[in-house]
Formats: sequence, C-alpha cells, structure tokens
Amino acid sequence: MLFPLLMASCADSADETGAEASAPGVQVAPFGEVDGVPVELFTMTNGRGMEIRLTNYGGVVTHLFAPDAEGRAADVALGYDTLAEYLESSPYFGSLVGRYGNRIGGASFSLDGETFALAANNGPNHLHGGERGFDKVVWEAEPFEEAGRRGVRLAYVSPDGEEGYPGTLDVEVTYALTDENAFEIDYRATTDKATPVNLTQHTYFNLAGAGSGDILGHELTLHADRFTPVDEGLIPTGALQPVAGTPFDFTEPTAIGARIDADDTQIAHGGGYDHNFALNGAAGMLKHAARVTDPLSGRVLDVHTTEPGVQFYTGNFLDGSLSGKGVSYGKRSGFCLETQHFPDSPNQEAFPSTILRPGETYASRTIYSFDALP
Ligand code: GLA
Repeated sequence: MLFPLLMASCADSADETGAEASAPGVQVAPFGEVDGVPVELFTMTNGRGMEIRLTNYGGVVTHLFAPDAEGRAADVALGYDTLAEYLESSPYFGSLVGRYGNRIGGASFSLDGETFALAANNGPNHLHGGERGFDKVVWEAEPFEEAGRRGVRLAYVSPDGEEGYPGTLDVEVTYALTDENAFEIDYRATTDKATPVNLTQHTYFNLAGAGSGDILGHELTLHADRFTPVDEGLIPTGALQPVAGTPFDFTEPTAIGARIDADDTQIAHGGGYDHNFALNGAAGMLKHAARVTDPLSGRVLDVHTTEPGVQFYTGNFLDGSLSGKGVSYGKRSGFCLETQHFPDSPNQEAFPSTILRPGETYASRTIYSFDALP
C-alpha cells in the first residue's frame, strides 16, 4: 500500500509540488536490492514545505526539497532517482561517509605502535573509507517520529579489519527533519579496539535546484579564520594557515565564484575549493559553521556542527558526464560542506585526535537548516 502512495509522491515532485503535498511523517518504499539484500527509500516530510528522501544503501540522501520565500520547493540535492544509478557510479552524491571521511596520506597510519595499511583509492592516498566505505554498505534502518521531528535511525556494524581498519565499529546515524526546516544528523560509534573514526555527510547542494547551473553565484560565509593547506594530493601539510588576504577568506559573505580561479597554489591544488577549514569556536560545542545564500532563489542554508572542521568542496571534479533526475551535473554545479575532523589526522600529531578507544563513545552532530530570503 505504501509503495503506490510513494510513487504518487515521486511523480508529484517532478512538478515541484511533491514537497508540500504530503502530511508530516516518514514513508517507506522498496528501492531495489544490493547483492540480494533489499534496500528501502524513506521519505521524511514535515508539512512545512520540506521533504527529504534517503536510502539505507550508503545512507544516501537522494532528494532534498526546500522552499523559497513563496513556498516553491526545489530539489536542492544532486543525485539520482534510482538505486541502479548509485551502484553504477556516484561521486559520493548524498553519501554517509566513513570509517574515515576525507584523506589519509600514503594510505596508512600507525596507532599504538602498529602500522595499518588501507586502500590507496585516490592516487597514493586513502579517500572516504576505502573501496567499500560506509557509503556503499547497506545499513539497518528504522523510521521514527518524535515531537517536532521525524526521521530514520541507521545502524551498521563494521567488522574488525574492514577496509584495513582495526576494531569492530558499532555505528548509529540518525537523520531527522524538524518542524523548523532543519535536517539534523547525529553520529554515534563505539569500538572494541582503538581506531580512527571521522564520519561525515557528502550531499552536494545547489540552492537554486539541482541541475540548474553552477553554484558560483551563491554567497558563502565560513566561520573559519584558518584552513589546512594541502599538497598536490590534497594531504594537509600540517600547517594551519590564516585565511586573511587569501581566496580562502569567507569570514564575510562572498560569492563562491569570486576568487575560485585565482592564481593561487592552494586553489591550483584543489582545482578550486577542496579544502578543510578550521572552524572558530570550541571543539565539541555546536557552533555556526557556515551560511550559504543563493541571491537568485533566495534560499539559505545554515550549517551548525560540533566538529572542528568542514571540507568545502565545489564539485570541481564534476564534468557533465553524470546525469540524474533528468539533468546533467556540470563542473561546480554543486557544493559540499562536509563537517569533519581534519584530513589525515591519524598522521598529524598536532591535529585534534580522531582516535576512538574502547569504552569511549564517538558523538557528533551537524544541522543543515533551510530558510528563505523575503
Ligand atoms: C571529497 C574530496 C574531493 C572529491 C570528492 C568526491 O569532497 O575532498 O576531492 O574526492 O570528495 O568526488
């Protein structure tokens, strides 16, 4: 019964009315199979103009409808309509990333005197948890409803040694949509052996609507006085460099495209922005990390996080060869704000530690909230 209902809502959303059509709640529908394991598509609706669809394959957010000031919803997340497309090729569209989001230099690290070899899946370096990271596994999923919000609890047990990482990691991620148009993400993990953990979310946003062009006119504010400069392989040098006087200064609202092609070594290394910013404010405290405003549609995204850093990535590797939802994804047609600990932390003594030990609980929270300028 739910399946035809959801299909009806999918069809509606093509004409941008789907987000407002449904009553608040969470709907579940079959989304296909991965290696014989059925996966589902969950649709969270808040009755206030927002709708988020996600699948327990990779914890992928497939659609995110957000309203403008007139209540017109647009799907602001790059991605696909079908599971087959995600299985075929995805640059982490909407993915839940782990065990270690971002890069680990030389695809290895030492911990307590032991060296661990990881997959070199990004040149000589390790990226986003390896060949089959948390973005490619099937999570257990349970929808829930609470006062003022509804969502899906995802759980995954990563076996000891998976992708080369030590320890059985028990992970729980909660995705929730609130009545206030906030998308709240809570990450929890425990382990039975010391291991690095750095979980993040890799949704590519385009506040004018996925497929509507590039994001160079969006204005970004990043509450970060420093960033971590990188080498050609995007591994941090270990320095924390002040953004002042560089194309990385977003402490005042600035168009993403204003300096994206500046003659600057760091810009050259990233092919644009693909850098971790060290957020101002106390570690572990929920703080305002970023605000992005699209002057054309008026949609606004605010990001709050307990993490010390955020990877700002401008979709430099997109080249129009991938299409989904009837549109094609050209260079810089989306941006990511991946809240996280700094890249390569397991090899960088001076960076905040990413090591989780038995008896400790990894806890991290990020909130993407949506608003609209009048
Ligand atoms: C992250 C990385 C980028 C790129 C994307 C996926 O954001 O920092 O360099 O690999 O993931 O395409």
